[in-house]
Amino acid sequence: MSRVLIIGAGGVAGVVAHKCCQNPDVFEAICIASRTLSKCEALRDKLVGGRTEVTAAQVDADDTQQVIDLINSYKPEMVINVALPYQDLTIMDACLATGVHYLDTANYEPPEIPKFEYKWQWAYREKFEKAGLTALLGSGFDPGVTSVFSAYAQKHYFDEIHTIDIIDANAGDHGYHFATNFNPEINIREITAPGSYWENGEWVETEPLEIKKVYNFPEIGNKDIYLLHHEEIESLAINIKGIKKIRFWMTFSEKYLTHLRVLENVGMTSIEPIDFNGQKIAPIHFLKAVLPDPASLGPRTKGKTNIGCIFQGVKDGKPVKYHVYNVCDHEACYAEVGSQAISYTTGVPAMIGAMMMLTGKWLKPGVYNVEEFDPDPFMEQLNKQGLPWQESFDPELID
Ligand SMILES: NC(=O)c1ccc[n+]([C@@H]2O[C@H](COP(=O)([O-])OP(=O)(O)OC[C@H]3O[C@@H](n4cnc5c(N)ncnc54)[C@H](OP(=O)(O)O)[C@@H]3O)[C@@H](O)[C@H]2O)c1
Repeated sequence: MSRVLIIGAGGVAGVVAHKCCQNPDVFEAICIASRTLSKCEALRDKLVGGRTEVTAAQVDADDTQQVIDLINSYKPEMVINVALPYQDLTIMDACLATGVHYLDTANYEPPEIPKFEYKWQWAYREKFEKAGLTALLGSGFDPGVTSVFSAYAQKHYFDEIHTIDIIDANAGDHGYHFATNFNPEINIREITAPGSYWENGEWVETEPLEIKKVYNFPEIGNKDIYLLHHEEIESLAINIKGIKKIRFWMTFSEKYLTHLRVLENVGMTSIEPIDFNGQKIAPIHFLKAVLPDPASLGPRTKGKTNIGCIFQGVKDGKPVKYHVYNVCDHEACYAEVGSQAISYTTGVPAMIGAMMMLTGKWLKPGVYNVEEFDPDPFMEQLNKQGLPWQESFDPELID
């Protein structure tokens, strides 16, 4: 029975909070804390009345001292960070200062440089080891479940994995001309950055969205997929021994990309502040303000996601192909927790990661990526907590 501080009150945090309340034997009490108190209170008001005690608090997590003060007053066992990647380091510092465990779903990225890398958070390894605390990085879906899938494939089906293709399909339709499924700023920074993949021990860089293929997804059908840089490639390249190639693919519709191209061409996706009526403003911040709030897409989104990994390698000297994936229905997610499937597929694994830590299954002093722990109890919980997975040993491959 544990107390947990959840930082962030957006789309993902809403799912984390709901799922914690569905597991009161593990989550005795949660505090939802974020910059805008009214959002935390609105979420709290939806959840009070069950066995998990739910409270709300205000915190600016860019300020380490504010997080320290909140942790000292609430006294949680761990912090689930589902604010933005910009807050990762300040929250990790606060956890170290107060002696509590840490979990997040996205790696640190400096606000002024659109480049996410693990180096900043991996630099905390020794500090967490010395403090006897665990920091679990990237416990969302991708990164998160995709990395657990990789550890599971390695443990059960392969002597050596040679290639991993992570494929993330969203066949949902929210009816807007253009909207992002999670935080618009983080999402657009990710997509407009150069692509890259890992091959034979090196990063191969591509132009943004340069490589396109078509893939026939189970339950979703043919979709255009584009190669992107993605953070789990960096840790899987180290943690999956003998790996030769890792690529990450995401679906985008032509309509989405046309809007994105126009926004880029007119400068609306830029992170460089411009002068506007005597005020400095980054165009992407203004764009975020006019786009639909991802948390509001839930009631409008229909269709399914299919996210998984295709592995190729060898077992007992024979070639093996293996596809493991989850199919998630936007409307079913909304009916259960009031959110669309992108927030759901991120929030459920964040709760499961916390459950792994609080039940002692995934507790080890230091800073770890999810594939460094035993995947079996996590895979078991995915089936129980709303993200069941399916397997195929004869999948369509991506050439
Ligand atoms: N691994 C995965 O599969 C995956 C997938 C999707 C998203 N993610 C990650 O999940 C996280 C949350 O995404 P989301 O869609 O829920 O975003 P969101 O809806 O924009 O919510 C972000 C929340 O963080 C709060 N916040 C921002 N700055 C803060 C600060 N300085 N102090 C305290 N709170 C602050 C925001 O508060 P305000 O309302 O006041 O702005 C908001 O409540 C992001 O880091 C995203 O990258 C991971």
